[in-house]
Amino acid sequence: MFTAIVVTEDAPATLTEVDDDFLPEGEVAIDVEFSSVNYKDGLALLDMGQIVRAFPLVPGIDLVGTVTASASPRFAVGDRVTLNGDGIGEKRFGGFAQKAKVRADSLVSLPDSLTSARAAAIGTAGFTAMIAVLALEDAGVTPGDGPVLVTGAAGGVGSIAIALLAARGYAVTASTGRVAEQGDYLRSLGATEVVDRAQFSELGKPLQSQRWAAAIDSVGSATLANVLAQTTYGGVVVACGLAQGGDLPTSVMPFILRSVTLTGANSVDAPLDLRERAWAALATNLDPQLLDALTTTVGLADVFDIAPRIIAGEIRGRTVVDVKRRSARSLQTAE
Ligand SMILES: NC(=O)c1ccc[n+]([C@@H]2O[C@H](COP(=O)([O-])OP(=O)(O)OC[C@H]3O[C@@H](n4cnc5c(N)ncnc54)[C@H](OP(=O)(O)O)[C@@H]3O)[C@@H](O)[C@H]2O)c1
Repeated sequence: MFTAIVVTEDAPATLTEVDDDFLPEGEVAIDVEFSSVNYKDGLALLDMGQIVRAFPLVPGIDLVGTVTASASPRFAVGDRVTLNGDGIGEKRFGGFAQKAKVRADSLVSLPDSLTSARAAAIGTAGFTAMIAVLALEDAGVTPGDGPVLVTGAAGGVGSIAIALLAARGYAVTASTGRVAEQGDYLRSLGATEVVDRAQFSELGKPLQSQRWAAAIDSVGSATLANVLAQTTYGGVVVACGLAQGGDLPTSVMPFILRSVTLTGANSVDAPLDLRERAWAALATNLDPQLLDALTTTVGLADVFDIAPRIIAGEIRGRTVVDVKRRSARSLQTAE
């Protein structure tokens, strides 16, 4: 028997004991050590956004653990691995359990230098931040081009995006709704400027003063439209989230008059070569102490308390779930 959070079609998610037969077949069996709470997990646990699309299901869109059996030549018993997306926690069993069986296609071996706990602290939010940074650079952005804006700055994607960009030499402006509470935190991650997100929240003119050489946006909606309107000629914006909304009330003006590029980052279906490239960069680009400072660790039962708080935008940085523990007892609020 092992412990798992299970969602069924007609009942809320619960913490329960299941046996090994409960897991559907998968190429690689994993003894899960850690998962993490991402925005999408909050939606899944609160039965919002139609995230869960198969029942019963173990939620949790990422996991870190050790291989216990493998039908894939890429993995051997004892390998430390991580999986982000690939449908886990949505249509395949995910990381909020002590055991998992997964497809091999998107599974990545962890670099030796990265502990399992820190890999979980990075998790899907950090992986998404990394592929967003790579998308900017693949589109030609360099630190000399000017400031890069990160929206949703105090959240998981935003926090790690700031740390990664600063480590790579960019001047980073952090946009947050919590300037007073989280300003020092955002500067400690490497932001050179912290601005109030209110200035982006209401829809403005299609072209505005040019401020950003690039941007990583996890907010969407009017915020993304304003960011596009403020991006400098030839600049690049990566859309990777929808914390404000999934709409995009913009016009063609930023594209046809300023040659702005809008691109995307998708962690769920990222191909294996991009996953391996991103994890190799994450292992070397992130200061371990900084990563520890932006991370809170909880137990499996605590996930139910975190879910409404991440949807309310109250969580700072990253929340790791130690699936071997039931409860951390010391839920830290962002201070
Ligand atoms: N594309 C992908 O593959 C991918 C992967 C992971 C996540 N995502 C998406 O990226 C977004 C962020 O995920 P996350 O895990 O970082 O979530 P998170 O930790 O909850 O961070 C979201 C942040 O967005 C800001 N925010 C919340 N509500 C807002 C609103 N109404 N208007 C403006 N800003 C708001 C808050 O930052 P401040 O308090 O600093 O303002 C909040 O901390 C989510 O939409 C998620 O679904 C996408």
